[in-house]
Amino acid sequence: MKKIIIALALLALPGLTLASGEGGYPLAKAPIDPHDQPSLQRGAKLFVNYCMGCHSLDYQRYNRMGRDIGLTDEQVKDNLIFTGAKVGDTMKNAMPKADAKRWFGVTPPDLTVIARSRGVDYLYNYLQTFYKDPTRPFGVNNVVFPNAGMPHVLWELQGMQEPVYTVHKDAAGTEVKTITGFKLTQPGSLSPPEFKEAMADLTNFLAYVGEPIKLERQRIGIWVLLFLALATVVFYLLKKEYWKDVH
Ligand code: HEC
Repeated sequence: MKKIIIALALLALPGLTLASGEGGYPLAKAPIDPHDQPSLQRGAKLFVNYCMGCHSLDYQRYNRMGRDIGLTDEQVKDNLIFTGAKVGDTMKNAMPKADAKRWFGVTPPDLTVIARSRGVDYLYNYLQTFYKDPTRPFGVNNVVFPNAGMPHVLWELQGMQEPVYTVHKDAAGTEVKTITGFKLTQPGSLSPPEFKEAMADLTNFLAYVGEPIKLERQRIGIWVLLFLALATVVFYLLKKEYWKDVH
């Protein structure tokens, strides 16, 4: 029994650690839906337009992505490939890693499995919590990833927001300032609800990329369970048949 409790506690751990950002900022839940193809398509479009300049998806092929999110090879070529890549290529970017390191201090990581390593809630909140901070090299900071080396690449869509602080006293009586919200000081081309939805699409897309087989696995899983249920009935009847002379 003890072992079971420990095992359950361990299972719950990743969920617990991801429930809040580094600064204790509560993470809003990412409303993702892997069955929503239009959302995945919008997410893919955002990714190739705003992220692929710096980040690659080295383990994802364009044509596989297209098939999974409901686009033909032609549609992928016309709408999602800007790098001269072929539709069967992986989604690499053109930025030399050494240059990237010089420009940003860190190499922008490959994002193929980022949704799995960081969790979807983290991504959804990370993308929405860049805020103005003139002390940082790019003039912005981030709440869930403090001092991130990434510029606010979506500021044209979101606009620029400034943090709202709440001051409270900790156990030792010292005043602590924490960010508890934001004020949009310069609007972007999207309204706040539109931006939120766009970030849900982008997170949805990155979640798909992290586990492209997920939908298929669920489909196969249902058949496997049905098969097992049927097999149980058959085996039960067989057992009854075999044992009927014994009892
Ligand atoms: C101008 C280059 C650039 C663009 C464009 C860019 N990023 Fe980044 N990104 C970076 C750099 C640099 C880092 C590494 C930051 C660090 O480790 O301090 C990073 C890190 C990240 C991380 C990792 C955070 C972590 O916890 O490790 C995520 C997720 C991310 N970017 C998502 C995106 C998404 C989604 C887009 C498109 C909307 C995007 N990035 C566009 C430069 C960029």
